[in-house]
Amino acid sequence: MPEGTMITTPSGIDVKRLAGALGAEISGLDLAEDNYDNLFPALYQAFLDHQVIVLRGQNLTPDQLVDLSKKFGDLEAHVLTQFNMEENPEVLLISNVKKAGKPIGAIYAGQYWHSDLSYMPRPTQGSFLHSKEIPSYGGDTMFCSMTQAYDDLSEPMQAFLGGLTATHDYTNAYDTFFAHMPDRPPLTAEERAKVPPVTHPVIRTHPETGKKTVYVNPGFTRRINELSFSESRRVLDFLFEHCYQPQYIYRHMWGVGDLVIWDNRSTCHRAVADYDMTENRHMIRCSVAGDVPQ
Ligand code: OGA
Ligand code: MN
Repeated sequence: MPEGTMITTPSGIDVKRLAGALGAEISGLDLAEDNYDNLFPALYQAFLDHQVIVLRGQNLTPDQLVDLSKKFGDLEAHVLTQFNMEENPEVLLISNVKKAGKPIGAIYAGQYWHSDLSYMPRPTQGSFLHSKEIPSYGGDTMFCSMTQAYDDLSEPMQAFLGGLTATHDYTNAYDTFFAHMPDRPPLTAEERAKVPPVTHPVIRTHPETGKKTVYVNPGFTRRINELSFSESRRVLDFLFEHCYQPQYIYRHMWGVGDLVIWDNRSTCHRAVADYDMTENRHMIRCSVAGDVPQ
């Protein structure tokens, strides 16, 4: 299907590709108003096929976002429980809005390439991010197809990586990216205790599509276990440089009401911190629990 071509699937939803490697816009669906039960299989298939799906102009309440997310699977809670919505603890706030001088949501969330909760034994399946307020410019989110990046590696490289595992650790992000950030409190001892390091394969197989994917990221991957420290550093750096090339990326420019759903099993993403922090960027988010990477 050429880029930019709108197709109506036999099941009724309109799908338009947004970039070469991943990303598609779904239109003709008002998730707040329509009964979309019969369209759900097509929506889910688009999520698997395109890895990131975009539905613009939605106006979902937190409850409606929860209902949609639950069709994908069981919801999971984030380590940072203080940013869960008071009225709806299944919804996390990604926000720079402050109340009494303190951010009400996770501020500086994901300003480095990562796959959500890759530091947990069972990382996230799908993430659902719905924008309510956006700055006048900037604050995009970039997504990278880790399956396409894997496919373009040579066979000897694929075979080499296929035998390796890596340590993922949430505190890696705090030791590096968040280390000098104001307003981003360090993890408490209690929070740290909830996120001991975990081991995952460097190459994982998507449980539903069967596609192989590179599953390391600079946010949470500390090292490749079977290599020496210096080899690990260099192999990780090679992978990051290879994977985050422009041809594997879709960059989402947010509009108010956008709902973006991404598959963490086959993609990485990062927030672009180029907006004016005196302007509000306020999003609500749900996430669905995935399985143990194989
Ligand atoms: C997230 C995340 C990026 C953004 O919600 O998991 O990484 O652009 N957000 O807000
Ligand atoms: Mn994220």
